[in-house]
Amino acid sequence: MKIVYTDNNATTKVADEVIEEMLPYFGELYGNPSSMHTFGDQVQKKIKQARQRVADFINADPEEIIFTSCGTESDNSAIFSAIRAFPEKKHIITSNVEHPAINNLYKELQKTEGYKVTFVPVDKKGLLDLDLLYNSISEDTAIISLMWANNETGVLFPIEKIAKQANEKHILFHTDAVQAAGKVPIDVKKIGVDMLSLSGHKIHAPKGVGVLYVKKGLKFSPFLVGGHQEDGRRGGTENSVSIIGLGKACELAKENIPIINSKVRELRDYLQAQLLDKIISSSVNGDLEQRLPNTLSIGFDAVEGESILLMLDREGICASSGSACTSGSLEPSHVLMAMEVPFKSAHGSIRFSLSHYNTKEEMDHIVTAMVPVIQKLRAMSPFWKDGKVI
Ligand SMILES: Cc1ncc(COP(=O)(O)O)c(C=O)c1O
Repeated sequence: MKIVYTDNNATTKVADEVIEEMLPYFGELYGNPSSMHTFGDQVQKKIKQARQRVADFINADPEEIIFTSCGTESDNSAIFSAIRAFPEKKHIITSNVEHPAINNLYKELQKTEGYKVTFVPVDKKGLLDLDLLYNSISEDTAIISLMWANNETGVLFPIEKIAKQANEKHILFHTDAVQAAGKVPIDVKKIGVDMLSLSGHKIHAPKGVGVLYVKKGLKFSPFLVGGHQEDGRRGGTENSVSIIGLGKACELAKENIPIINSKVRELRDYLQAQLLDKIISSSVNGDLEQRLPNTLSIGFDAVEGESILLMLDREGICASSGSACTSGSLEPSHVLMAMEVPFKSAHGSIRFSLSHYNTKEEMDHIVTAMVPVIQKLRAMSPFWKDGKVI
């Protein structure tokens, strides 16, 4: 069966060009980049090139790039470094729709270390209450950390505006750009952000590699203490193969941003229009403008998102009912709950997240599959009668 893959916010296909770039380093070029010999040094040189490519992708300097194992490690490293830099400050500002990669860390810090965390609420469109955010800044604030783009709805936060405020108040500012990367242009110098997280597997590089950008001059405490790798800022022998792949993926991602904003946006808008038109009592979650071009979170009243996914799976269609980490739980997603999406459609919400590998034929296949799926589920639903929700 042909797979229609529309779960790119969970993970992406590794690009062929990336595989080609990595292959020699899986095989004959297996040296340790820290070794003194030429054999290892070849790998070090290739890592240097990858670091430059990542830096170019976000307009940073290569020394500002730290390779990590994933987006979660980058997020955790940023927060730990901030709280170590300002041990006397016990307040963190974030939003109530962050990814568990960082959200659960805040909960842990609240519970075990007495941190006060302000989870700034979002409105019904998933947009941040900026007045509340700015008013919550105090002398005690160690860091403001916000996601750039939401993994479930694709809603974008005004990161540049918030970074400016944080800079003026001399408060560290970190952004989790794991979902924004490759979909919106990132220029760390223009934004004025202190730290920024990326994850390889969301931008057509392999799993097991991430990046933390740390602005030059910023005091940084390593999260993983060990050898002298990454200039003493992240111990552990480098995942050289994946780092090399990530370098290539960043180069490709930079070239592909215009395609994501034209072709992929058109496909997403087409899918959205078709589904809204052909299935009654359906609605899009999140702001329609301030949104990633590849993401569609859509709710269908009176059905279960998990049931939709299982039925789509039989047609070879891969989608998601929220963040991959929390799906499997029957609770509606914390993001949709924070947006006060009514229970009846939050439960029946699913996410399609596209990439430049998708086609219009695939969108038509999804629409053709979705119409009978929703009909069947509504026919069995205790919340649906005579063509409407009860
Ligand atoms: C916004 C966001 N932050 C962080 C992460 C975690 O990234 P990783 O899977 O590389 O740890 C994800 C993954 O879905 C994400 O969507």
